[in-house]
Amino acid sequence: MKKALISGISGQDGSYLAELLISKGYEVHGIVRRASVSNTRRIDHLLHPGEMRGEFLQLHFGDVTDSSRLAALIDQIEPNEVYNLAAQSHVQISFHEPVHTSEVVALGALKMLEAVRNAGAGHTRFYQATTSEVYGNVNISPQDEKTPFHPDNPYACGKVFAFHQVRLYREAYGLHASNGILFNHESPRRGHNFVTRKITRGLARIVAGRQDKLLLGNLDARRDWGHAKDYVEAMWMMLQQASGGDYVIATGKSHSVRDFLDTSFGLLGLDWSDHVDIDPKLLRPIDVNEFIGDFSKARQAFGWEPKISLQDLAREMVMTDLLHEDVDPAQFDL
Ligand code: NAP
Ligand code: GDD
Repeated sequence: MKKALISGISGQDGSYLAELLISKGYEVHGIVRRASVSNTRRIDHLLHPGEMRGEFLQLHFGDVTDSSRLAALIDQIEPNEVYNLAAQSHVQISFHEPVHTSEVVALGALKMLEAVRNAGAGHTRFYQATTSEVYGNVNISPQDEKTPFHPDNPYACGKVFAFHQVRLYREAYGLHASNGILFNHESPRRGHNFVTRKITRGLARIVAGRQDKLLLGNLDARRDWGHAKDYVEAMWMMLQQASGGDYVIATGKSHSVRDFLDTSFGLLGLDWSDHVDIDPKLLRPIDVNEFIGDFSKARQAFGWEPKISLQDLAREMVMTDLLHEDVDPAQFDL
């Protein structure tokens, strides 16, 4: 039975990846941070009630800033595949917490790589969660693996550092290590303070009468939005290749925040402009105007392509958030 270790398993992608690997017969291990209240909500269905383990999933307390703990876990588990998904992943918060963000995003990735290398784990394959944010406002469209990096926030700077460490470990030490350069991907499990989820959750709360207004920042930004479920499949596919590499994972289509408002409010027959106000505090010191990715390399190398459309993604998110707010989605023509 293959063994995988996932950092960031309690996050959006970690939860979908754990489900995918378990469905493929893996024994999955995950690193979780100790928190005063449980942070395993997204993976509780994979665990025995009240325990840190399930039939195919075992959780271990740890933190990617703690080298000694990472080394001990790699030694103990001897994973065939390591997926480094841990991050302070919020771009705006990275402007407020640049040092912490860098410690997790940049040094955390390096510490994971060192733990794998020092274990002499020649059989261990490594996945790094790189991001379209590495391109920033590069003004070349669409972005692919050859597009120069121009990181425009502390989070993206940390991810560029980690990208090059992964490339270096591949070239210098022969590690099977890959960078998935993933463009934005969303789901009903997306954190509440990312824009798509903030919109679908806000919409559901407005319909339920629990919220009056939805406060947003830059509505003109354009993103290439896919579904997290499709994207974790690409992570796994990268590690099944004969050697490591760097791959863009995207849909090739870009939409503005305004478009996402049109789509999600439109599903319930509402006009978002009656409910949305702009809050200047939500504007960033620099924002990236547009991301749009070219995923041809991944399609050619291992046949990956996105399956779920933005319309279906928005519908799933709106339906799930309506249910969370005890509103019956059946009353709408979804
Ligand atoms: P997410 O929902 O914010 O999850 C982040 C995960 O990292 C959580 O499990 C979090 O644990 C964990 N974490 C944070 N700091 C840690 C630390 N010091 N040690 C160990 N774990 C730590 O992010 P996501 O959307 O799933 O994204 C997964 C990865 O892909 C991230 O690296 C992100 O930067 C990258 N990425 C995401 C996207 C996207 O659009 N979603 C696109 C490109 C790249 P807690 O639950 O305890 O907070
Ligand atoms: N979060 C947020 N909240 N964003 C808003 C808001 C708001 O109220 N109003 C407008 N936006 C705009 C942001 O300024 C940005 O241009 C866009 O919506 C998307 O913001 P987020 O959903 O926070 O995502 P992101 O693009 O900054 O970062 C996400 O995608 C990256 C991949 O490109 C994160 O998941 C990163 O971790 C990931 O690397």
